[in-house]
Amino acid sequence: MKTCHRITPRSATMALAAIAALSCVYPSLSRAQPAAAPVTARHGLVASDHHLATDAGAQVLRQGGNAVDAAIATAFALAVVLPSAGNLGGGGFLVYHDAMGRATTFDFRETAPAAATERMFLDERGAVRDTSNHKGPLSVGVPGTVAGLWLAHQRHGSRPWAELVQPAIDLAAGGFPFSPRMRGWCDWLATTTDSLYAAARAAFLADGAHPLALGQTLRQPDLAATLTRIRDDGQEGFYAGETARLLAAFMREHGGLISEADLAAYHAVERAPVRGTYRGYEIVSMAPPSSGGVALIEMLNMLEGDDLAALGHNTAPYLHLLTETMRRAYADRAQFLGDPEANPSQPLDRLLSKEHAKALRATIDPLAASPSDSVRFGAAYLAPESEQTTHLSVVDAAGGAVSLTYTLEESYGSGLVVPGTGFLLNNEMGDFNAVPGRTDRRGIIGTAPNLVAPGKRMLSSMTPVIVTQGGVPVLVVGSPGGRTIINTVLQVVLNVIDFEMDIRAAAEAPRIHHQWLPDVTRLEEQGFPAELQKQYEAMGHVVAPRPPMGIVMGISVDRETGWRHGAADSRSVDGGVAGY
Ligand code: DON
Repeated sequence: MKTCHRITPRSATMALAAIAALSCVYPSLSRAQPAAAPVTARHGLVASDHHLATDAGAQVLRQGGNAVDAAIATAFALAVVLPSAGNLGGGGFLVYHDAMGRATTFDFRETAPAAATERMFLDERGAVRDTSNHKGPLSVGVPGTVAGLWLAHQRHGSRPWAELVQPAIDLAAGGFPFSPRMRGWCDWLATTTDSLYAAARAAFLADGAHPLALGQTLRQPDLAATLTRIRDDGQEGFYAGETARLLAAFMREHGGLISEADLAAYHAVERAPVRGTYRGYEIVSMAPPSSGGVALIEMLNMLEGDDLAALGHNTAPYLHLLTETMRRAYADRAQFLGDPEANPSQPLDRLLSKEHAKALRATIDPLAASPSDSVRFGAAYLAPESEQTTHLSVVDAAGGAVSLTYTLEESYGSGLVVPGTGFLLNNEMGDFNAVPGRTDRRGIIGTAPNLVAPGKRMLSSMTPVIVTQGGVPVLVVGSPGGRTIINTVLQVVLNVIDFEMDIRAAAEAPRIHHQWLPDVTRLEEQGFPAELQKQYEAMGHVVAPRPPMGIVMGISVDRETGWRHGAADSRSVDGGVAGY
């Protein structure tokens, strides 16, 4: 990070240092850095996964709004122009850090409805009954987004609420150009005749039947009406009255569990962030029910003992060290983390401590992969997670910052639209562990902290993070990507701090993912040449290619000049950065 003081790490282990010395044998093989520079601005910047939503947030900044205001406007606009992940019917996390050193977070993760039970997705033999935890009305958690944005506004907003919701209403009523990104979903929607999806067809298809042509204007009048109720009545505009009545009626009709009482009872929670340090920077991120902040800090603590720059970016020894670090943190994640109220004795202090990281690091063989089974008993099959969540980053004129990630879980969530409301419902119940007590080699994670229970929040990997120096935000970043999110954010933070990349290059660099189990390293298919893979595999790793991993939206702040630098990952089709 050019603008930050680089603190020389403690000396690397002898073996790693020896490997690093062979850097001519392990050339750095990053994907060619894009020529494009970050977007820069003097006062404020917004980076989000859709340029129209970015514009809505940037406009709020220009009018004197703070980072929370701009994040709210951007998030509501994304609910219109990025229906795969932007949402009213899902949930997420917002991390806020002002320029005076104060930080807080808002947890608006979905909850299990009151009628949910630990065994609700099982048959009489105790096996997962069908796909109902991922599909259909039972997969829907009580949405949290509107309550979260409302609570953040109550605590830190400076502009009128209505002013922040209005751009989304305008986009929904006036329409926006149909994006290639929506093509696949709308093609699928046009082929299904299932009455469950009738309202989705009405919302997203021309005449409820045909996909729009690319660039054709998509108007969402029902969504505009829902947003208008939210504009006028705040949280109550979603959790009570017409919207709540329509949602509960839809659930009753189709065998879902969410009632008007569940909606009335939903509340977002303001929580203390989790904090760590890394080479003189402070890491501020989301506490459980996100696993992201804890796992990120745990990994940074483990890596702090090595001179990563000396190993070289994306060389085999570097990837080996990353993998072993990821393996250990993800094992802890599975064993310990879940909803904090349901798991009051989660050992957060221990997991976040430098001592714990040191003990884990001592188990890493610098030359050879350790099998995941040796890191933790048993094995677990981690169900593939789709990659549709979205992140937005904001820095305002005063230096305050918001890092916000929210999701419907899968792309377009459950695919269910509540008739008359125009918004999609999440399928977040699939983020609970479905089978109590069953964690097997090929099976399912059944660890206790994340079993279904009424009112409980399901464990998440979303990792909105703000990195500060001297109490001032210098890096704001996050990503979608299910369980890969934590590793994406980790690698961007390392790219900036250890490899001194600008935010654009840091977001673009190729990434890897290991999540303890299955014991396979996923390498982005662009960016890891065969020779590098061979060297890495020779250390005992099993590799598999994967499509692009994550979509980073990041902003860095140059402490000397005050300039803000923003990047929307080119893995995003519609992303944009704007400010003034
Ligand atoms: O909260 C979570 O960890 C997941 N529901 C996020 C899902 C996700 O990121 C999917 N794709 N991007």
